[in-house]
Amino acid sequence: MPEQIFKDQVAIVTGAGEGIGHEIARRLALQGALVLLNDIKPTLAKQAAQDICDEGGTCVGVGGDIADVKVVRDLATRAVSDFGRLTIAVANAGLSLWDDFFDFKPEDFHRILAVNLGGSFFLAQAAARQMRRQGTGGRLLFMSSVAGIQAIAESSVYAMTKKGLEMLARSLVSEVSAHGITVNVIAPGATVTPRTVATVPDYEPIWSHVTPTGRPAYPIDIANAALFFLSPASGHITGQTLIVDGGWTATSPEPQSQFADKTK
Ligand SMILES: NC(=O)c1ccc[n+]([C@@H]2O[C@H](COP(=O)([O-])OP(=O)(O)OC[C@H]3O[C@@H](n4cnc5c(N)ncnc54)[C@H](O)[C@@H]3O)[C@@H](O)[C@H]2O)c1
Repeated sequence: MPEQIFKDQVAIVTGAGEGIGHEIARRLALQGALVLLNDIKPTLAKQAAQDICDEGGTCVGVGGDIADVKVVRDLATRAVSDFGRLTIAVANAGLSLWDDFFDFKPEDFHRILAVNLGGSFFLAQAAARQMRRQGTGGRLLFMSSVAGIQAIAESSVYAMTKKGLEMLARSLVSEVSAHGITVNVIAPGATVTPRTVATVPDYEPIWSHVTPTGRPAYPIDIANAALFFLSPASGHITGQTLIVDGGWTATSPEPQSQFADKTK
C-alpha cells in the first residue's frame, strides 16, 4: 500500500478516462484521496473509476464535457455531496486539435478555446469558490504543453490556449493565495498515451530520437510531477509552470530542420 499522503483530500480530475489524467487520478486515489474522475465519455469514466476502485482506491466516474460550464460546476457540487468537501482540482482535459493556420476553421477555434481555456478556468473558479467557503486551502493544477513553450507547426490555436493557462495560473495567484490555495501548471512534452500512439503509430521511436533523455514521457512521469504540486510538500510553490519533457525544449532544431521542405 503506497504512503497515504492524500488521505482526507478530495480531488476532481478532468479528462481522466485514459492517458495522463487517468494516471493522476489513479495515483491520487491509491495514496488516499477520494477522487471524482471526469471524462466526456460517460462509459469510459465509469470504467476507469471502477478500475481504480478495483485496485483499492476510492473513485467515482462522472461523464460530461468540461467545455460546458454547468458540467464543471456540477463536478464541484458532486464532490461535496459525495465526499463532503473539495481540496484538489486538476484541469487536465484538453483538446489536441492541430491544423494549418491558413485553413483553420472558426468552429474548431472556438471549440479548442472552450475546452482548453474555458474548461480549465471554470473548473478552477468552481473549485476555488468551494475551497474559499471551506477555509481549508487547496490545490489547483492546469495542464499546459510544450507547445505553449516552443512553437510547433500547425499548433497555433492549441499553443495559444496552453500558453494562456500559464498566465491564468500567474494571474490567479494574487486572488487565491489569501485562501491558502496554490495554482500551478505542468507542461508535458510528448507523452505516450492511447491517443498519441493511435494517432502516430511510430510515436515512441520518433520521440525517442529527438528527446535528450532518449524516450518520450509516460503518464507516470507527468503524474509524478502533478502529485508533487498537489501534495502538502509544495505549499510555498504557486504560479509556476514545470516542464516535463526529457529536455526537449532545452534543445534547438538541428540542420535537418523541418522547415527545409516548406521553403520550396
Ligand atoms: N499526450 C501528450 O503527448 C501531451 C503533451 C502535452 C500536453 N498534453 C496535455 O495533457 C492533457 C492530457 O493529455 P492526454 O494525451 O492524456 O489526453 P487525451 O487527448 O488522450 O484525452 C484524455 C481523456 O480526456 C477526455 N476528454 C477529451 N475532451 C474532453 C472534454 N471536453 N471533457 C471531458 N473529457 C474530455 C477523452 O475522452 C480522454 O479519455 C491534455 O490537456 C493535453 O493537451 C498531452
